[in-house]
Amino acid sequence: MAPPISISLVFFLLCLVSKSHSLEFTFNGFNQSDLRLAGDSAMKDRAVRLTSTTKNIFGRAFYPSPVQFFTNTSSARNISSFSTHFVFLIAPSGSSRGGHGIAFTVAPSMEFPGAKAGHYLGILNESNEENKSNRLFMVEFDTVNGYKEASDSEGNQVGVNVNNFLSIESEPAAYYRDGTDRKRDFRLESGNPIQAWIDFDGLSGVLNVTVAPDSEPKPSRPLISRPLSLNQLFLENMYVGFSAATGEKTSSHYILAWSFNSNGIAPELDLSTLPIPPKVKKSPSSRLRIHALIGALSAVVLLLLVALFFVVMYRRRLVFESLEDWELDCPHRFSYKDLYLATKGFRNSELLGKGGFGAVYKGVLPSTGAEVAVKKIGSNNSRQGMREFAAEIESLGRLRHKNLVNLQGWCKRENDLLLVYDYIPNGSLDSLLFKPRSGLILTWEQRYNILKGIAAGLLYLHEEWTQVVIHRDIKSSNVLIDGDMNGRLGDFGLARLYDHQENSHTTHVVGTIGYIAPELAQTGKASTSSDVFAYGVLLLEVASGRGSVVSDPNKGRIMLVEWIFELAQAGRILDAVDLKLGSGYDVKEMEMVLGLGLFCCHPIADARPTMRQIARYLNGDDLLPGIDKLGSDVYLNAQAKMSRFMGVFLGESNTTSLHGSSSAVEMSSSSIQGGR
Ligand SMILES: *[C@@H]1O[C@H](CO)[C@@H](O)[C@H](O)[C@H]1NC(C)=O
Ligand SMILES: *[C@@H]1O[C@H](CO)[C@@H](O)[C@H](O)[C@H]1NC(C)=O
Ligand SMILES: *[C@@H]1O[C@H](CO)[C@@H](O)[C@H](O)[C@H]1NC(C)=O
Ligand SMILES: *[C@@H]1O[C@H](CO)[C@@H](O)[C@H](O)[C@H]1NC(C)=O
Ligand SMILES: *[C@@H]1O[C@H](CO)[C@@H](O)[C@H](O)[C@H]1NC(C)=O
Ligand SMILES: *[C@@H]1O[C@H](CO)[C@@H](O)[C@H](O)[C@H]1NC(C)=O
Repeated sequence: MAPPISISLVFFLLCLVSKSHSLEFTFNGFNQSDLRLAGDSAMKDRAVRLTSTTKNIFGRAFYPSPVQFFTNTSSARNISSFSTHFVFLIAPSGSSRGGHGIAFTVAPSMEFPGAKAGHYLGILNESNEENKSNRLFMVEFDTVNGYKEASDSEGNQVGVNVNNFLSIESEPAAYYRDGTDRKRDFRLESGNPIQAWIDFDGLSGVLNVTVAPDSEPKPSRPLISRPLSLNQLFLENMYVGFSAATGEKTSSHYILAWSFNSNGIAPELDLSTLPIPPKVKKSPSSRLRIHALIGALSAVVLLLLVALFFVVMYRRRLVFESLEDWELDCPHRFSYKDLYLATKGFRNSELLGKGGFGAVYKGVLPSTGAEVAVKKIGSNNSRQGMREFAAEIESLGRLRHKNLVNLQGWCKRENDLLLVYDYIPNGSLDSLLFKPRSGLILTWEQRYNILKGIAAGLLYLHEEWTQVVIHRDIKSSNVLIDGDMNGRLGDFGLARLYDHQENSHTTHVVGTIGYIAPELAQTGKASTSSDVFAYGVLLLEVASGRGSVVSDPNKGRIMLVEWIFELAQAGRILDAVDLKLGSGYDVKEMEMVLGLGLFCCHPIADARPTMRQIARYLNGDDLLPGIDKLGSDVYLNAQAKMSRFMGVFLGESNTTSLHGSSSAVEMSSSSIQGGR
């Protein structure tokens, strides 16, 4: 029959037509003639170095021949489905952040007269950057904040740009792990190879941009996926290539490998033959070489062998860490040696204290002389667990707030996990409140300031960071006081980290007795409201100078909340005030703090204020409703029930003292199960 034959003939011809115009190439490393270099770019060991770390330079590297971006049929002029895969590397010059970034560029020409460095990336300048007839398409990998003083808010983004550098869409660099919706953030300027894929579907007009560290396969879900009309933008022939620039901040920018297909899927790159990036961190092979060297030398001189034996033993102890490739991607990773030296070998004299998660040592980093606190946690993570754990810590390491004890980094060694925090000189709030050193009693003004600070820190965790971070273990011993007597919240996110541990049902810490919201005790599910509950207990502790659990002469051990609520009902709320304050406090503020504490500890999670509302009350922006609004019966019943519930763990006690009961009793979810 004739029709099938003619159809297949047309198909064949179509294929022939599109084939003849499609361009496909693969460079697993480059040689001199592969690309047309311009500006300060240069070929280094099979890699294209677009810029060195000199200030205010740019470099470009383009495929030397034009690319045909349309496939013509008799009836239509169709833009082709092009795709590219490449590996780049950005290494900042110093320890500070570098700049400015790399752009994959499709342009009508390889010449960009008058182009400037900095955020113009060697493509445009101030007089033509707004020109609608630039006909530029760029995917930008941006490492510097701010374009024109403002728009880009974060300096670690992937952006899609048409004609100018104002991205029509941008996303912080991240990738989706296969099969999950969770985004993994990572740093572009890590000094490690990073893969990018740009796929454009000509028929549907959808552009996909995907990035991932070189250790990962191509994520099935792209970071950016959006419709984009390139039909009007692209000319018949366009040039494709890369451009990068430095400004006042500098990085060296490299392209290590590149494949492209003008009509179809870009060929896979062979990552095993990537050019060696010029500035890698300790790589396994260099360690091997050191090993071999040591072996050879020791064979020569016996005496040397003995000496070397000790050296090697020493180094094994300090330096040897079995780094896996993914660990090199972690900018917050510390070396064990540094931490070992910093804490004088985790000597007891450097011990600052022991918390629920582990011992804390004071340290002085040998490289910078900075004071840090190093928390040593025993962990029994599998390798896989460690990797997720590390990703989580990397993400927590980016949290920055003046009222948080910032996490500077981490280190893993055998079964120990070490977390490095800012060192906070004045110790924890609970010791200042309950065991004041001679003469150092916190004034009301200081206490109020600390409470406001902690509210601000929690507000940041709950609402102001890119993802909601639930603290889960707010308590006075987790509040540290800095040199200016500001409160800083520590240990945030740790409880969540513990979820990644294997055997989490036995090590899972859900909080501290006296701070656990009723719904948390029942379901084991932490939320921002359960954090608010714990913050409420903190408010009451600071105002009353008493721990979260008090001993009542008649009732034995009860929750501080229950005790204060009963005083409030009897109209004697000020009886709860810390006697150490004498009359040195503002009555209105004190009443507000105690009342707010009771509100935060409402047994019904939804009735509690949010951290934002709490901050408004503390700043005097809003007036707190009267405590008669608490619904006294429901409230008291629930608190009394909590107290009884807690009694199961603490045991009844007949001590008559109302002061400073221990609140640092932790329990695991399994013990909660047992308690019900
Ligand atoms: C450059 O690379 C091409 C393939 O990419 C190869 O055919 C050619 O021989 C190389 N030239 C040199 C001088 O290495
Ligand atoms: C496709 O058609 C356009 C005009 O519609 C023409 O300019 C162009 O040269 C054609 N391209 C090819 C490869 O035939
Ligand atoms: C060209 O585009 C038209 C619609 O715009 C579509 O129907 C046709 O199949 C396309 N042809 C090719 C060869 O992609
Ligand atoms: C900007 O570039 C255009 C050409 O693209 C050039 O004519 C112009 O002189 C340049 N302007 C400056 C200020 O360098
Ligand atoms: C935009 O660029 C085109 C070609 O580069 C030039 O002819 C035109 O004058 C420019 N327009 C403006 C407003 O600068
Ligand atoms: C772009 O991403 C979407 C969503 O994952 C996918 O369905 C589509 O096939 C992708 N298109 C291309 C050209 O890769």
